[in-house]
Amino acid sequence: MGIEVVVEGLTMSFGKQNIWQDVTLTLPAGEVSVMLGPSGTGKTVFLKSLIGLLKPQQGRVLINGVDMVGGAERDIYETRKLFGLMFQDGALFGSMTLFDNIAFPLREHTRKRESEIRRIVMERIDLVGLLGAEGKLPGEISGGMRKRAGLARALVLDPQIVLCDEPDSGLDPVRTAYLSQLLIDLNARIDATMLIVTHNLDIAATVPDNMGMFFRRNLVTFGPREVLLTSDEPVVTQFLAGRREGPIGMSEEKDAALLAAELVDPANHRTAGPPVIVPQLEPSPGLPPRAAVARRRERVLGMLDSLPPAARAAIRDTYARAAAAPTLSVPRPGSGS
Ligand SMILES: Nc1ncnc2c1ncn2[C@@H]1O[C@H](COP(=O)(O)OP(=O)(O)OP(=O)(O)O)[C@@H](O)[C@H]1O
Ligand SMILES: [Mg+2]
Repeated sequence: MGIEVVVEGLTMSFGKQNIWQDVTLTLPAGEVSVMLGPSGTGKTVFLKSLIGLLKPQQGRVLINGVDMVGGAERDIYETRKLFGLMFQDGALFGSMTLFDNIAFPLREHTRKRESEIRRIVMERIDLVGLLGAEGKLPGEISGGMRKRAGLARALVLDPQIVLCDEPDSGLDPVRTAYLSQLLIDLNARIDATMLIVTHNLDIAATVPDNMGMFFRRNLVTFGPREVLLTSDEPVVTQFLAGRREGPIGMSEEKDAALLAAELVDPANHRTAGPPVIVPQLEPSPGLPPRAAVARRRERVLGMLDSLPPAARAAIRDTYARAAAAPTLSVPRPGSGS
């Protein structure tokens, strides 16, 4: 089962440039979370801080009792092995075949025999739909295939925490839909805690249990997906609608006068009625149900009173619908009965 990641009061600067401050959130064990935010708001820096590659000036990142910010390097190094990382650019070695790229962490971090490595690598290659391409070089395959190879490589060490930095960038809408399903299926199979940074609104709407957003050096919100999806914070509604009007500008911040003028324009407000929340994706037929679903239900219903009314209503609606719907999961072949 995945591991909880607790982030407390994290503040990060590079020299005089403050990236974000006082970031506090918990990635619940085994759940899928998505982080949104305009370019340059420090999402990649945040992922790197979680694994201890970057050291924020204040705060803690607790994983199994190890502080990835101020803990002993030895503990941090060991804890890092729990992570699977999928980088923004795929980060494959150009001169190595996909097989060797995906085998790399196993050869680097374990003493497994070559036959065992082959078994694991081929299983992950199958998982991401790349069977047959294992002998190719990264330069010989499409961007989407490189993404999936990056994901396969993130999975070889049986990670309990999976971080994906923009797994969809450069993918067409159909491939992105497949990727969304792949991420949910992966969560059903391995029950890892997952954090996905993305600009893709379809992934944001259909994949996560939880959502957060960075803006203007702060974590604007983080919590059950329904909170962000029903939020009327201007920065959130602008981002979710992909509009030019709102606090997010081409450069970091907009001129206050322009922003005020936009705010009084009725065209820039959400149309009447509650926002429509599309149902979260289910694992593909034949896969086990996601173990996090029951835990998440328990957790979210327990915090209901602390949430804004719109989010509360949306969560009640989600669970009422789930209770009414017939279960979609089919027993796995060979899983008894
Ligand atoms: N090692 C570093 N040294 C100095 N500044 C850095 C370093 N890494 C990142 N930054 C700065 O931190 C800020 C946030 O960068 P980051 O890559 O985290 O943004 P992002 O939210 O991931 O953006 P995008 O959505 O475009 O990927 C940028 O201004 C960047 O220049
Ligand atoms: Mg980034």
